[in-house]
Amino acid sequence: MPEGRAPANEPNLEGDLQATLDTGVAHPARVYDYWLGGKDHFAVDREAAEQVIAANPAVLPGVRANRAFLGRAVRYLAGEAGIRQFLDLGTGLPTAQNTHQVAQSVAPDARIVYVDNDPMVLAHARALLTLRTRPDFERFFGGLEMVQPGIVPLPQWRGPGSEHPIPCYAGMGRKPARG
Ligand SMILES: C[S@@+](CC[C@H](N)C(=O)[O-])C[C@H]1O[C@@H](n2cnc3c(N)ncnc32)[C@H](O)[C@@H]1O
Repeated sequence: MPEGRAPANEPNLEGDLQATLDTGVAHPARVYDYWLGGKDHFAVDREAAEQVIAANPAVLPGVRANRAFLGRAVRYLAGEAGIRQFLDLGTGLPTAQNTHQVAQSVAPDARIVYVDNDPMVLAHARALLTLRTRPDFERFFGGLEMVQPGIVPLPQWRGPGSEHPIPCYAGMGRKPARG
């Protein structure tokens, strides 16, 4: 376990976040994360989530269907509809196939702004979703010959069907042969 990591099943929080986070009150982002099978929730969130499940067991297939719809909708918008700017209001905690991953797998130049009022979502976003821009990344390869397919979102580099929960660009360069 990396240094500073919280014990399994409890979120890893930075100091300033601790001050703004109320772990005594359930929050929708963490309750939703619990329903989706994530690990970023507190006892109070799990209790609230279970109460909802008891009252309405359909909530579980419902949230998963909602997540799947999000993926299909973004894929359509980035692909057929040609949308390049997305505003994701109520982002939730990062999970597999976040909006930018879906959009950029179709259109690498798509840009996404995430908005959420849960400080824990912000902490995760800082850790996982802060990307170097493509020009930033390209600078690492100055003077090198790029190996195909060049600089692409990581899932494209690793081949069709592969997925990676942390979004980033990937590329490989080699020193040009001396001529
Ligand atoms: C049901 S989750 C949706 C997660 C994700 N969009 C999905 O479809 O899988 C709703 C999210 O909206 C956020 N939220 C609720 N009220 C909000 C508000 N007034 N402003 C910003 N975010 C809000 C919650 O923190 C939570 O993360």
